[in-house]
Amino acid sequence: MTDFLTLAEDIAREAGDMLLAKRPTMSAEIETKSSPTDVVTALDKASERLIRERIEAARPGDRILGEEGGEAPGESDVRWIVDPIDGTVNFLYGLPDWAVSIAVEVGGRVVAGVVNVPTRGEVFTAALGEGAWLGGARLRCNTGVPLPQALVATGFGYSKAGRAVQGEVVAKVLPRVRDIRRGGSCAIDLCSLAAGRVDAYYERGINPWDYGAAGLVATESGARLAGLNGRPVSPDFAICAAPGLFEELHDLLAPLDPERGA
Ligand code: IPD
Repeated sequence: MTDFLTLAEDIAREAGDMLLAKRPTMSAEIETKSSPTDVVTALDKASERLIRERIEAARPGDRILGEEGGEAPGESDVRWIVDPIDGTVNFLYGLPDWAVSIAVEVGGRVVAGVVNVPTRGEVFTAALGEGAWLGGARLRCNTGVPLPQALVATGFGYSKAGRAVQGEVVAKVLPRVRDIRRGGSCAIDLCSLAAGRVDAYYERGINPWDYGAAGLVATESGARLAGLNGRPVSPDFAICAAPGLFEELHDLLAPLDPERGA
């Protein structure tokens, strides 16, 4: 596990350094993916290429799932889950909150995760059963926060229909909590939760590359991460918070049917 974590961290740092050095201006080469608001920059692709090359060199035969390049076939029990830039829109606009995220899954379970936030000089790491860390500091999420006092992070997907529902849902959540934060990177939202910078997080439509590494950082900090009605976290829905607040937020969200209209 330590070897996985060390390799993932080295690669996430190298990709982050490359991205910092080549940060774009708005004229950067931009393509769109699922909708006109879902962008991919040339640097997304360059970052994923670099990460894939480094993994393949160190661990030939492992499978790799990347946001931009899909999944490379392979027989191995080990799968690397890569988001070359989480928070692409922030990256494009010169906002600081974007991250390189790398998770290592063995037998379908994430065992190591690294989220590098280059603009802040922060690298979040976690290993299954061994805790979550920021630099030398062990992370513990906030506990004992009641819903009305909770600072809740969330995000919005790229489809118009999905966003309409997300808007309705957040309108019902906002009057019931301390406040809402929309940072623009699911990976950083989950790491912020682990570091006690927000109390809870929910979102519909996030993908394994968004939450793979940061999900482990959050759960290793003591938080619970799951979907609605006892289901595991998935692109359908994610809620994350310390036990107690998790259930309160879940019970507010579930009757709002936030998975509808996908
Ligand atoms: C997005 C970010 C954002 C979340 C979106 C994600 P991307 O990932 O994590 O915070 O709200 O759902 O798609 O496109 O920047 O890699």
